Amino acid sequence: MTPIILDCDPGHDDAIAIMLAAGDPAVDLLAITTVAGNQTLDKTTLNARRVCTLAGVHDVPIAAGCARPLTRPLQVAADVHGESGLDGPRFGEPAVPVVGEHAVDLVHRLLQEHPEPVTLVPTGPLTNIALLLTRYPGDAARIREIVLMGGSTERGNVGPYAEFNIFVDPEAAAIVFGSGVPVTMCGLNVTHQALVTPEVVARLEDLGGDLGPVCAELMTFFASTYKKLWGFEAPPLHDPVAVARVIDPALVECVDAHVAIEVVGAHTRGATCVDLHGYLGEPPNAKVAVGLDAPRFFDRLVGALEDLRAGQVS
Ligand code: BDR
Ligand code: CA
Repeated sequence: MTPIILDCDPGHDDAIAIMLAAGDPAVDLLAITTVAGNQTLDKTTLNARRVCTLAGVHDVPIAAGCARPLTRPLQVAADVHGESGLDGPRFGEPAVPVVGEHAVDLVHRLLQEHPEPVTLVPTGPLTNIALLLTRYPGDAARIREIVLMGGSTERGNVGPYAEFNIFVDPEAAAIVFGSGVPVTMCGLNVTHQALVTPEVVARLEDLGGDLGPVCAELMTFFASTYKKLWGFEAPPLHDPVAVARVIDPALVECVDAHVAIEVVGAHTRGATCVDLHGYLGEPPNAKVAVGLDAPRFFDRLVGALEDLRAGQVS
């Protein structure tokens, strides 16, 4: 079992990433930390608690982190995820608490306490992770790797070349990619292959209980915004791809490359400049995802959700 900490901004696809991380036996989910991104920190934290309540995840600490990017004002994605950050289904009162510790301090403590290095899986802006590496530089040696959802080898989704998570806090991304910690980047070029077709929605619905219909409703709302904003016939399930890469690396094919973050670009702020052909002569600083085995990815995801659901029944 690979010990992981999921740092997220739920968010429809983050919600499914939480469930995959909690339900799959290949990873040991030590904590869930939240960051401002898709919505404000109070909303992303409430959403993490809602998802854990729904999924019956009561034994994983949830800690709130940074409420804004390192140096810039926050830009949220209400157009994609709604005013709540998790629009679509109705949620009851959350039954899991948020711990009093700041996310960065919780991650620091867990890195110190855990007997082996821990994998960090950020699926929102990289603010918390950059703050951790800045505040506690010695922690780099305790991190096995950082497997993140963000960036793209191709075009962006919030600018011509910028992907949302990197765009919101490019200074944080630059710190993470420059940290020397092994980084794996799962960008839009692969997550756009994880399409939640009507067949996938039907498989989610079939899970039954509360879990199945709520997952299906989440994906139906997500489908409506992706159709409206980008004309997608089915929405891409970005964040679970990063979790899947940790669960079974063979699901996500990667190549070594140098990645530079465009922090001040006149037209390209937040772009990930992925040097796939080594033009710049810089040594690789990341593994960059270039392929996804989508059928096996969805089988693994549905299997994890079935296990979560079975845990609720027993
Ligand atoms: C990323 O941005 C967010 O809207 C999603 O949750 C995902 O992490 C995709 O660009
Ligand atoms: Ca996210």
